[in-house]
Amino acid sequence: MGAVSVIELDHVTKIYPLKAGDVVALDDVTLRIDRGEFIAIMGPSGSGKSTLLNQIGCLDVPTRGDLLISGKNIRKMIDQELTTLRLATIGFIFQKFNLIPVLTAFENVEYPYLMKNRREDITGRVRNLLLSVGIDNAMAQHRPPELSGGQQQRVSIARALVNDPAILLCDEPTGNLDSKTGDQIMELLVELHRQGRTIITVTHDARVSRFADRIISLTDGRVS
Ligand SMILES: Nc1ncnc2c1ncn2[C@@H]1O[C@H](COP(=O)(O)OP(=O)(O)O)[C@@H](O)[C@H]1O
Ligand SMILES: [Mg+2]
Repeated sequence: MGAVSVIELDHVTKIYPLKAGDVVALDDVTLRIDRGEFIAIMGPSGSGKSTLLNQIGCLDVPTRGDLLISGKNIRKMIDQELTTLRLATIGFIFQKFNLIPVLTAFENVEYPYLMKNRREDITGRVRNLLLSVGIDNAMAQHRPPELSGGQQQRVSIARALVNDPAILLCDEPTGNLDSKTGDQIMELLVELHRQGRTIITVTHDARVSRFADRIISLTDGRVS
C-alpha cells in the first residue's frame, strides 16, 4: 500500500437542485492528490472547477461519493471537527480576493488566526507574513478598498497562510490582475510550493499550468 494521499475523491458527484432542473456540476469524479503536488485545474467556464475546489476545501459536501482529507472521510466528521480541519489544514485564495472591507489588511490576516487560536498573535507572525508577500507595516493599516488588486491578492495570500496550512486552494488567483501582477502572484505560489505546500489552483491561464506537476481537465463536470 502506498502513502496516504492528502486528498482523495471517490466517485464524487455534486448536484445543485434547481426548480428548472438539477444541475450536475460534478459527475462521478475520482482522483487522488499527493502531498506536495502542484495541480492546475483547467476547463471551460461552467465545467465545475469552482465546485471541485469547494468540495476539496470542505466548503460543501458531495451529493454522492466520498471525500477524504489525509485519509479521513469528511462524512464521518462532526461540524466542529470539520471547522477545525478547515482552519488548520486549508488556505483559500479567490479571484475576487474576498477580503473583509471594513477591516484593515492586518486585521484581515489576523482574523483566521484569532478564529483558530482564540488569542492575539504576539509572535509577529501576521506582520512577518504580510512583509513576506510585500505589504509593509504602513500599507497593512489600509483597508482593502484602498489597495490595488495585486496588493489585495498579496494580503489574501498572507491570510491563507496565517494558520500554516498544508494545502493551498486557489480559484483563478490571477483572474482579476494584469499579466505582470499576475506573474508576481504566481511566483509567490511557486515559492510556497517549493516550501513543501500542496497547491491546487483553478486557472484559465496556460502560463500558470507550466508551473504545475499535473493538470486536471474538467469538461461538463467530468475529469477528461
Ligand atoms: N450554487 C449553485 N447553485 C446552482 N448551480 C450552481 C451553483 N454553483 C455552480 N452552479 C452550476 O454548476 C456548474 C458548474 O459551476 P462552477 O463549478 O462554478 O464552474 P466553473 O468554476 O468551471 O466555471 C455550472 O453549470 C453552474 O451554473
Ligand atoms: Mg469558477
